[in-house]
Amino acid sequence: MEARRLIIIFLFLSFLVSGSQSTTFTFKNNCPYPVWPGVLTGQGSAPSTGFELVSRASSSIVISAPWSGRFWGRTFCSTNSGSFKCLTGDCGSGQVACNGAGAIPPASLVELTLATNGGKDFYDISLVDGYNLPVSIAPQGGSDCSAVSCPANINSVCPSELSFTAPDGQVIGCRSACDKFKDPKYCCTGSYGSPSTCPPTNYSMFFKNQCPQAYSYAYDDKTSTFTCTGSNYLITFCP
Ligand SMILES: *[C@@H]1O[C@H](CO)[C@@H](O)[C@H](O)[C@H]1NC(C)=O
Repeated sequence: MEARRLIIIFLFLSFLVSGSQSTTFTFKNNCPYPVWPGVLTGQGSAPSTGFELVSRASSSIVISAPWSGRFWGRTFCSTNSGSFKCLTGDCGSGQVACNGAGAIPPASLVELTLATNGGKDFYDISLVDGYNLPVSIAPQGGSDCSAVSCPANINSVCPSELSFTAPDGQVIGCRSACDKFKDPKYCCTGSYGSPSTCPPTNYSMFFKNQCPQAYSYAYDDKTSTFTCTGSNYLITFCP
């Protein structure tokens, strides 16, 4: 009888602890055009892999720790003969749901690791795979938190050799030098495969100048990673 009571108390406490480990992500589309967020889970699970946000709309998903993964916004999406496709950030699934597939560059990425047991969440905005739209991460509550934003419209100033264009010629993305030139010095591969042998380049510095808080290349300095404890997050497209 005593053992059973202990087990019940234990299960209740476990429920309380695990229940306090859920994080609410609210996605807000401030862009004057629709955005289709994509979700790619590395560790753990999420209730969605992709959905639509019309201009000015918000939508929330709840994710339980431990979790790591990334979010991005797809733009200029449409359905042709039954297959869903986006001009930027497409995941190749043919559907609004990405079903475990990631973004095809160029895409601005929000990368996040949710801690368990009151630890620190880690997050960043990455332009390592290029840029397609402005985005920000704002902690809601929590402690010792920093907001991160890449509000610049990089498409409007993208060097022509990195420009990613729609069929009508409009610049709708800005490719990373690694993705465009596949050169080890831009990709930090081969003999450039460590922080000390892969310094910034003129192209990574172009991205860094536009969005100083975002990762501009693989070994960007540690100012690009941010932490927070016990928070929910607001992710805004076109902050
Ligand atoms: C970066 O340097 C390369 C040559 O190393 C040059 O061709 C290119 O125009 C430069 N780009 C920018 C954005 O400064």
